[in-house]
Amino acid sequence: MKHEIVEKNIGLMIVFIIVAISFGALVEIVPLFFQKQTTEPVEGLKPLGALELTGRDIYIREGCNVCHSQMVRPMRSETERYGHYSVAGESVYDHPFLWGSKRTGPDLARVGGRYSDEWHRAHLFNPRDVVPESIMPAYPWLFENDIDSQLVGKKMAALRKVGVPYTDDDIAGAAAKVEGKTEIDAVVAYLQQLGTLLKYRR
Ligand code: HEC
Repeated sequence: MKHEIVEKNIGLMIVFIIVAISFGALVEIVPLFFQKQTTEPVEGLKPLGALELTGRDIYIREGCNVCHSQMVRPMRSETERYGHYSVAGESVYDHPFLWGSKRTGPDLARVGGRYSDEWHRAHLFNPRDVVPESIMPAYPWLFENDIDSQLVGKKMAALRKVGVPYTDDDIAGAAAKVEGKTEIDAVVAYLQQLGTLLKYRR
């Protein structure tokens, strides 16, 4: 039987498996690049400002995304706790996106506006000061590190190449926006805008 040829020839089997999986992937993944729902920004979405963008990179550098996801799943237990589930249009300007799936700490997709700036500063300086049972690491160096103001404009220009609609003015004015700020200012600014576009219930 012809089928036996495939079953007894591992090389051929591997080739057929790759073809089968590739076809499945094409059918599932390729349409996502063309669907409005996944490619169009939600109403009001703007690219991150200079300070927020700097904060996002510090967030990645410090590995915050290793413990915190940024995706509220469409399930009752999630939406009751965090608010409106995440939609693709909220993260079309994120390169790379930070959805994640591992949650050592809570999801942060909608943390913007939930706490004051002062709370975030105290929490990042030493989480135990505000949440006594917390196992989150402290980040005291964020309060000392200055921001390299020359870098952020270049990052914006690079992001523009992959489709983030930064204007020439955004890029030209970027350095001035982060001048004299420390890393903690940037991280808090980043956190405070997360997920604030879709209205949600607390
Ligand atoms: C080792 C895992 C871990 C890392 C790394 C980590 N966190 Fe956390 N985070 C937690 C845990 C656990 C909590 C819950 C306890 C608490 O509030 O401190 C938390 C809570 C939070 C909260 C409060 C969320 C809420 O809804 O109450 C914020 C905001 C936060 N983290 C931001 C950050 C930022 C920013 C970084 C990176 C600079 C970071 N975390 C890195 C584990 C982590």
